[in-house]
Amino acid sequence: MIDLLGKTKRTHKCGELRLSDEGKIVTVMGFVSKYRNLGSLIFIDVRDISGIVQVSFDDSVDEAVFKKAATLRMEYNVAISGVVRSRGTNINKNMPTGEIEILASELKILAEAETTPFEIKDDTNASENLRLKYRYLDLRRPILQNILKIRDKISITARNYLSENGFLDIETPYLGKSTPEGARDYLVPSRVHPGEFYALPQSPQLYKQLLMIAGMDRYYQIAKCFRDEDLRANRQPEFTQIDLEMSYVEDCEDVMSVAEGLIKKIFSETAGCQFDGPFRRITWKEAMERWGSDKPDTRFGLELNNVSDCVKECGFSVFENAIKAGGAVRAINAKGLGTKMTRKDIDSYGEFVKSYGAKGLAWATVKEEGITSSFFKFISEEVKEKLLAKLDAQIGDILFFVASEKEKVTFDALGALRCELASKYNLFDKSQYDFLWVTEFPMFEWSEEENRLVAMHHPFTAPMVEDFDLLDTDPIKARSNAYDMVINGQEAGGGSIRIHNPELQKKIFNLIGLTQEQIKEKFGFFVDAFRYGAPPHGGLAFGLDRLTMLVTQNENIKDVIAFPKVQSASCLMSDAPSVVDKQQLEDLKITCTENN
Ligand code: AMO
Ligand code: AMP
Repeated sequence: MIDLLGKTKRTHKCGELRLSDEGKIVTVMGFVSKYRNLGSLIFIDVRDISGIVQVSFDDSVDEAVFKKAATLRMEYNVAISGVVRSRGTNINKNMPTGEIEILASELKILAEAETTPFEIKDDTNASENLRLKYRYLDLRRPILQNILKIRDKISITARNYLSENGFLDIETPYLGKSTPEGARDYLVPSRVHPGEFYALPQSPQLYKQLLMIAGMDRYYQIAKCFRDEDLRANRQPEFTQIDLEMSYVEDCEDVMSVAEGLIKKIFSETAGCQFDGPFRRITWKEAMERWGSDKPDTRFGLELNNVSDCVKECGFSVFENAIKAGGAVRAINAKGLGTKMTRKDIDSYGEFVKSYGAKGLAWATVKEEGITSSFFKFISEEVKEKLLAKLDAQIGDILFFVASEKEKVTFDALGALRCELASKYNLFDKSQYDFLWVTEFPMFEWSEEENRLVAMHHPFTAPMVEDFDLLDTDPIKARSNAYDMVINGQEAGGGSIRIHNPELQKKIFNLIGLTQEQIKEKFGFFVDAFRYGAPPHGGLAFGLDRLTMLVTQNENIKDVIAFPKVQSASCLMSDAPSVVDKQQLEDLKITCTENN
């Protein structure tokens, strides 16, 4: 039997009640999360968003209520009124409400519940897929509710900070034109214009710049972004940015200081971090050379070394050939790990680096009795000595080498290997935060596939003034006014000073091989806008999902999103994406080659 809520009003949330409430008549509402029937006493736990409280039913207090309580099952939704009483010496130290319980005098069953497909508790062993299929049940677990509370706190902190700093919250369209972030677009067909499509925004980039041209001065938005790209542990096809843009800035310091202030505020309010001084700055070049990554995790050592000079003519053809082909040989010294690794481990790291394009992983362990190595037999004593000295090799160390004709492969492979080793051998305190900026990115990178320069950030990013001349002479060497904020080796946010001079913009488009027609077709409206007095401007966007992962120290982006997608970009709960009615397709004048 279901009861109506009627005039019953909640007086307290379950998790709020304390010993100081003893004697009060209260009404709580929530889910039954534990049920014990001891014959003449029934104990239940009631759970709501704030926590859990114990309720007891005593057949000597009210027999009818007691009988009704006996029909309760897990996850029934109930309203309970009663008096708060002390649990005396039966305190439950694991619950904030553990000193009290409610002695029930009234019980309303607001909804019954079937047996849930998994038990609703934090330490569940239900599979992630099952949990995602019943996400509304999964989200009843306090652990996930707490993450969403923290996510809310981060948003509110950001809103308050940005509002106090003169930023206006302005919404931008979802149904728009393709944007330039470089991933594949999600397209939405137009019924009114058959054969034409909107693109969901990969970010509000174009619109926020247009808002600067519109004189809005400072904009922010907590914006949904859509990118049809492969999912990873920190990547979802739809995700959320704290996106901002500001006018009258030409120096990246202006944007970085606002953004740094925002991050400090968020992490001090939600993670209790204390900050003294500004975040560390690392140029892109230094980041690559030392950590093999443009998002370096500097919480541990294992830095990269370029040993090309030592091994140019070492006699080991793998190394020599890589250098001759214009590449490099780089190495890391995994200090003290030599004794901890078996041959099988070493071979597994050889496989690991292959997924980053390396053809192999050469190694040398330094032991009391001498050196064991996959390649020392090929090289002279002199080169060995040089290598050991350069890498500061000591007994107990293991050295790893990657040679490639592509420098990028040496960075990617060893950059990833150092993180893998650090995580596997617990080389750092995972609860520590490491905040830094990476600056002076290259303007362009060379795309082998397209055989042309492509913008490393996006094509509206301004070059560094010092490098203007390089655009004409050696554009691949030109650096941009872009900056990324990296937290614990993750790209938490990024942005740039924008080009506001139409001539310079034209030059950049030319360098990335866009024809006049392509420019007009892709960004015509945008480029036109710059003819009408655009202020100098710049901005940045943080990934809200990633910030939440960092604050809650969670390595799975799905855990910080209420309704996430799985690897195949589908939603296990709603079964999206799915086939649609024939009529809908006909309205859109679309025929499908699959599923028909
Ligand atoms: P960018 O593409 O670097 O810049 O994105 C900014 C931040 O958004 C987060 N992010 C993601 N989070 C989850 N899943 C994804 N698929 C995903 N992709 C990106 C990252 C990243 O740092 N318009 C520019 C910003 C600007 O120039 O102002 C932009 O979108 O945390
Ligand atoms: P081989 O003579 O082919 O057995 O190679 C000797 C060692 O060099 C092995 O440990 C290989 O994994 C390693 N090796 C092969 N190619 C590379 C490379 N590109 N970079 C680093 N080490 C490599």
